[in-house]
Amino acid sequence: MDKGVQLKKLQDELETSYESLPLATKREDLVHGEGEIFMIGEGPGYYEAVQRRPFVGRSGQLLRRSLQEIGLSPETTWITNIIKVRPPENRDPTVEEIEAFRPSLNQELEIIKPLLIVTLGRFSLAKFLPDVRISQVHGRLHKVNWEGRLVFVLPMYHPAAALRGTRVMESFKEDLKKLPKILEWAREQKEVWQLKGDVQEALF
Ligand code: URA
Repeated sequence: MDKGVQLKKLQDELETSYESLPLATKREDLVHGEGEIFMIGEGPGYYEAVQRRPFVGRSGQLLRRSLQEIGLSPETTWITNIIKVRPPENRDPTVEEIEAFRPSLNQELEIIKPLLIVTLGRFSLAKFLPDVRISQVHGRLHKVNWEGRLVFVLPMYHPAAALRGTRVMESFKEDLKKLPKILEWAREQKEVWQLKGDVQEALF
C-alpha cells in the first residue's frame, strides 16, 4: 500500500477511536502530522488546534521559516507531535497522554521510515534518548536502537524555548543549519531502519 494511503488510514482510525484517547472530545480535536525528515514536537497549541495543523503558531512560524532559510521545504519535512490533542493551557503532556498517543506515533514512524528524526524539546528527545539532558546533546547526531531498529536522531531545542531566550535561539539556529549536511550523510547510510542490537552513540 502506498505510504500516503497508509498514513490516511492511520489518521482515520485514530479519529474513529477518539473517545478512547485522552483530551479529545470530538474527532476534530486531533491534529495529525504532515510533510518527510521526521520532526517531533510536544503537542498542539491554540492555533494548531484551531487550524488542525501542527506548528502553525508562533513557534511553528519560526520553525517553518528557519527550514525555508536553510533550503528545506516544509512540505518535505514531516512535522508531528508526541501527543495530537492540545493540553489545557498548553501544559506539559502527562506520562499517560504520551503513552496513549505512542502507538499511532510509532505507526507514523514505521510508515515513513525517515532517514533522520529530529526531536524538538525534551519530550520527543526522551522517546529515543531517555537518559540525557537536551543541553548536553542538542545539535549532535545520534545513532540509536529504537524498538530494535537503527535510527538516526538529531536532538534540538524546541522553537518555543528558542523564542524565550537568545542563547537557546542561537543554538536552535546553529543546530538547524547542520541539517542539510546531516541529511546528505544519512542518505549514504545503508543501515538505517535495519535490525540492530544495542547501540546508542553520538556520531558527530
Ligand atoms: N508546539 C509543539 O510542540 N507543537 C506544535 O504543533 C505547536 C507548538
